[in-house]
Amino acid sequence: VIHHEIQVLLGERSYSIHVGAGMEADLGLQCRRNGLPGHLALITDRTVGSLYLRAVKKSLVSAGYEVTPIVVPPGEKEKSLTRANNIFTQMLKNGIGRKAAVIALGGGVIGDLSGFVAATYHRGLPLVQIPTTLLSQVDSSIGGKTAVNHPLGKNMIGAFHQPVFVWTDVQYLRTLPKREVVCGLGEIVKYGVILDSNLFSFIESRLDEILRLSEETVMHVQAVCSSLKAALVSQDERELGKRIILNYGHTLGHALEAAGQYRLLKHGEAVLMGMIGENYLAREMGLLSKPDHDRILDLIRRVPLQHKAGRLLKSAIMAAMGRDKKSVTGKKRFVLPVRIGETTIAESVPPELIQDSLSYLFESLPSR
Ligand SMILES: NC(=O)c1ccc[n+]([C@@H]2O[C@H](COP(=O)([O-])OP(=O)(O)OC[C@H]3O[C@@H](n4cnc5c(N)ncnc54)[C@H](O)[C@@H]3O)[C@@H](O)[C@H]2O)c1
Ligand SMILES: [Zn+2]
Repeated sequence: VIHHEIQVLLGERSYSIHVGAGMEADLGLQCRRNGLPGHLALITDRTVGSLYLRAVKKSLVSAGYEVTPIVVPPGEKEKSLTRANNIFTQMLKNGIGRKAAVIALGGGVIGDLSGFVAATYHRGLPLVQIPTTLLSQVDSSIGGKTAVNHPLGKNMIGAFHQPVFVWTDVQYLRTLPKREVVCGLGEIVKYGVILDSNLFSFIESRLDEILRLSEETVMHVQAVCSSLKAALVSQDERELGKRIILNYGHTLGHALEAAGQYRLLKHGEAVLMGMIGENYLAREMGLLSKPDHDRILDLIRRVPLQHKAGRLLKSAIMAAMGRDKKSVTGKKRFVLPVRIGETTIAESVPPELIQDSLSYLFESLPSR
């Protein structure tokens, strides 16, 4: 059993991210050590549930917990108020009261949905995140952002609700589909570009090992990314300042996701593409040198992205960008790299340049 611990420092809401391999048997005890109350709502999706629910439940039950499993269908569409309400009903019917906690077992969809449920049920229950996708293990399980989607926008209804701990076990990735590994790489490359040139070099030299999910390599990446996100969240829990840099690749990325109705592209795929476009903006605005630009582009192009982006319309992407909640002032705000490991905020990027960046991005995607 390998087990590292990373701290998120937030005063009385501080917590640990546990990164390791084969930690499952210890999960129930960890809940005890954190003083979780006796009744647990264990929320997962059908896919993850069929693989891991039994073992996770067993670990919790053997530590003396009463466990109520709640299994929902997989998919982004389940991040809805309707699904949250259905979970509330199941919790109420199962007698889950205020002396209870929520365990989220799954990817970012389950993490965001269960987190929202935990934040609001009985005015807030403790939450444990057990992320099972690469993306959720390096990013979405950390930092306390929880939300469901609204027909008028993604992640529009939500709350900040920090977990009691995060349980990142690399062994869950053994069953992860390749396309989901690629999605996780989107966020991993993001961390390298915005904060850590050593991580960036590490990804360059070990990309194949990451894609093959070599456990030691992936655990290293998980520990580094978790530390980077933990530090940002500690400094700026509510994204009023520095945490915004996590949105590198996301201004364009969110517009690409929306233009594809959240069906054509997965979040991580859209982020990979968004980074290509935003790097172009940075280079054209004279913020990023051509060698650094090319190095980032080369790495992203080595990621085996199975995109269907050719079906996206530029007009739909531009329209989606206009609706993004991060541009309420009407101005497009971009997090742009100035070198590998450092970013700046560009407040007003001309729309023509954004148009050009889309053309550049589509031309740059390797044809597969
Ligand atoms: N809260 C945040 O800070 C934050 C940050 C980034 C992304 N997000 C959100 O995360 C979501 C995306 O998360 P995701 O990429 O993890 O997708 P996901 O949760 O939809 O999971 C992807 C697919 O993989 C399956 N799966 C999960 N774990 C598996 C495993 N171990 N083996 C086999 N299959 C498995 C799931 O059933 C699902 O079908 C989006 O809704 C995005 O908005 C939130
Ligand atoms: Zn993201």
